[in-house]
Amino acid sequence: MKIWGIADTHLAAHRVDTMGIHGSIWSNHRGQIIENWHSTINEEDTVLIGGDVTWATSFQYAMIDINMLDRLPGKNKFIVKGNHDIWWKKYPEVKKMMPKTMNPLAGTAIKEGRHVICGTMGWLSPNDPCFDGLDMNAYKKELNLLEDALKAAVKLKPKDGLHLLMHFPPFTTKGCETPFFDLITKYPVTTCTFGHFHIEEEWDCLPQGNINGVEFRLISTDFLCHKPYLIWDA
Ligand SMILES: [Fe+2]
Repeated sequence: MKIWGIADTHLAAHRVDTMGIHGSIWSNHRGQIIENWHSTINEEDTVLIGGDVTWATSFQYAMIDINMLDRLPGKNKFIVKGNHDIWWKKYPEVKKMMPKTMNPLAGTAIKEGRHVICGTMGWLSPNDPCFDGLDMNAYKKELNLLEDALKAAVKLKPKDGLHLLMHFPPFTTKGCETPFFDLITKYPVTTCTFGHFHIEEEWDCLPQGNINGVEFRLISTDFLCHKPYLIWDA
């Protein structure tokens, strides 16, 4: 079974794509993602999509990109909300409207063969230099949702792996562990993948790899040069 990950696709099929202004890595990123997806991911594989999926602000326009992802190879795709996914209002509505292969996660967990996939968006933490008072409510809500997701995942008794998908990393922009990290490492998590970071200085100080038994990995599409990351292969 193969589990792949990619985050921050920042698609914009509903309008002219202007991502190229953020640097050459973003020039035709949609085309590169699609091409690399086809050359790496098979129909029977699982894909984790870590938020900031589309710039669309309405559900109607977001569905153009969501349907495109649905049609790409992969038996099941799991998706969490990113801070730019304005179209994602209420989880039950999103869940109801998702096409066949797309499974939204928000403090929830789903069994996938001998694995369990769980997820939530996450948020900035109080020890992050970018955190301000306005972040407090979202931080508390997301910390609770993370605990809900992890509890739900454990209940589903994962046999081969418990995979947590988030949008915000459980590390600050300076690479320090956050309360999200502390919670994650209290549970039998196998892998934790996330996006959100797009700046080289953030990439440079971000801890990755095996920490306290959990494999942490950044899967922002620009960090991956738009090639899906192989999270699990066994
Ligand atoms: Fe992003």
